[in-house]
Amino acid sequence: MKKLRFGLFENAQTNDSGTSTWRHPDSERHNFDTLDYWVDVAKMCEDAKLDFLFLADAWGWADVKGTRPDICDTEGLDLPRLDPAIVGAAIIASTEKLGIVMTGSTLLEQPYAFARRMQSLDHLSKGRIGWNVVTTGTAETAVAAFGVPMVAHDERYNMADDFMELVYKLFEGAWERDALERNKAGRYANPDKVHRISHDGPYFRSHGFGNSSYSPQGTPVLFQAGSSDRGKQFGGKHGECIFLGGGTAEKLAGQVKSIRDEAVANGRDPNSIKLMSAFSCVVAPTKEEARRKHQELLDAQTPEVAVASYAWFTGLDLSSFDPATKMSDLHTELSQTQIARFGDKTVGEVLKDWHAHGVRTNPYVGTPEDIADIMIDLAEKTDIDGFLFTPLIQPASTKDFVEQVMPILRARGVAASDYEGDTLRERLVGTPSPILSADHPGAGYRTL
Ligand SMILES: Cc1cc2nc3c(=O)[nH]c(=O)nc-3n(C[C@H](O)[C@H](O)[C@H](O)COP(=O)(O)O)c2cc1C
Repeated sequence: MKKLRFGLFENAQTNDSGTSTWRHPDSERHNFDTLDYWVDVAKMCEDAKLDFLFLADAWGWADVKGTRPDICDTEGLDLPRLDPAIVGAAIIASTEKLGIVMTGSTLLEQPYAFARRMQSLDHLSKGRIGWNVVTTGTAETAVAAFGVPMVAHDERYNMADDFMELVYKLFEGAWERDALERNKAGRYANPDKVHRISHDGPYFRSHGFGNSSYSPQGTPVLFQAGSSDRGKQFGGKHGECIFLGGGTAEKLAGQVKSIRDEAVANGRDPNSIKLMSAFSCVVAPTKEEARRKHQELLDAQTPEVAVASYAWFTGLDLSSFDPATKMSDLHTELSQTQIARFGDKTVGEVLKDWHAHGVRTNPYVGTPEDIADIMIDLAEKTDIDGFLFTPLIQPASTKDFVEQVMPILRARGVAASDYEGDTLRERLVGTPSPILSADHPGAGYRTL
C-alpha cells in the first residue's frame, strides 16, 4: 500500500466547523490569538512528521433572520478570527520542514496583492507554502462586509478560473526562475528575465510587473475542496491536493474517481492529484473510555449553536422549517454540499446531527488499533492518498492522534517516519522539482 500523507486541520478562531467545543476543559482554543498557541501546535505537527498544518478560513458570520444572534458571541461561534496568512507567517520561524497551507478566497481577495502575499510566504519558508483556493460560499454577510455583490454558486467558480489565470501569470510568468543574479559586481536582476504581464479577464484586470520575484515553488501548492459538480471540475483542473469531507468508503471512492476523471479530461496525470479525506476520531486506550470522552465532547456544547451555525454555511434558518421537511426540498446559493450530504434526512434529524459534528462527518470512536484499522481500510478501499486530521478539541485531540495512532500507522508501514524532499510540493505531490509539473495548466504561463 502507498505511504499515506497527513495534514492537520486548524482554524484561527475559538471554534470551527460549526461545532462549539471551546468550553471543554481540555480545549485551548480560546487562546487562538496568541503566538504561543500556534507555535505549540506547529511544533507538535513537525515532531509527528505531519506533512502540513492547514489553516482554514472564512469571512462573514451567522445571520439568522437578519439579526446577529447573541449565541454567536456567547459561544465565539464564527467571530473573532485571525488572518491565516499572518498566522502562517508567524510559525515559519519555529518550524523547518512543516508545510503551511492557508485558505484564500477568490471572491474577496485582490489577485495582485494576494499573489505577492503567497510569494512572500513561499520565499520566507523556502518553499513550504500551500494555498487552499476557496470561492467563499458561506455567507451573504461576507459580501456585505466587503461591499461587493453576491455572486451565484457556479459563477463564483468562473470568477475563480479568471483569478487563477491572473495569479499564474504573476507566479509563473512575471519573473523567470533565474532572473535574480544578486551580483554586487554586476547586476541584481537580469532585465531580459523580468516580464510585463497583461490580463483583461471577465472579472479581473492587471497590467505591468509582478511585485515579487519567482519564489521557491513558483505557484504555492494548490489545494481545493469544492465538492459540487462545478467545484470538482475546478479542482480537477487546478488542484494538486483535494480535500474530501469524509464519509463512507463507497462515497469517498466515488468522489476520488470523479476527481481523477476530471484531471484526465484536463490532460493531467490523474495520480498527480493527491486526495485527502477529512478524518475525526476520539481515541482512548479502551473503547469504553473513548465513548466516555466522546460524550463529554457532546455535553460541552449548547444545542442552540446548531441553528446559527447551519445558517452560516447555507443561509438557511432550519428552525423556521417544519422539522419533518425533507432536506432534499431545500435550496441554497451558498454551500450546496451542506444540503446534498444529508440526502433524504429531515430538518429535525439534521439539527441533531449538526450538534454532533457540524460540517464534519461523525468522528470514529475507539482504541488506537481500531482507529488505525479504520484508516487503513478506508485508504485501501478508496484510493485516497492521505488524511486531513480534523480535531474536535485542540490541542488535545491532535495530541491523542499523533501519540496513540500515528505510531501504529508507522509500524504498519503506511505513514512515513521522516520528511523527504525539501519543499511541500516535492514531499506531498511527489514532483521531481519544487515547481508545478509540466502537465498542470499553471505551468503553461511560465516564461523559461
Ligand atoms: C476539509 C475541508 C476544508 C475546507 N476548508 C474550507 C475553508 O477553509 N474555507 C472555505 O471557505 N471553505 C472550505 N471548505 C469548503 C469547500 O472549499 C467549498 O467551498 C464548499 O464545499 C462549497 O463549494 P461546493 O459547493 O463546490 O462544494 C472546506 C471543505 C473541506 C472538505
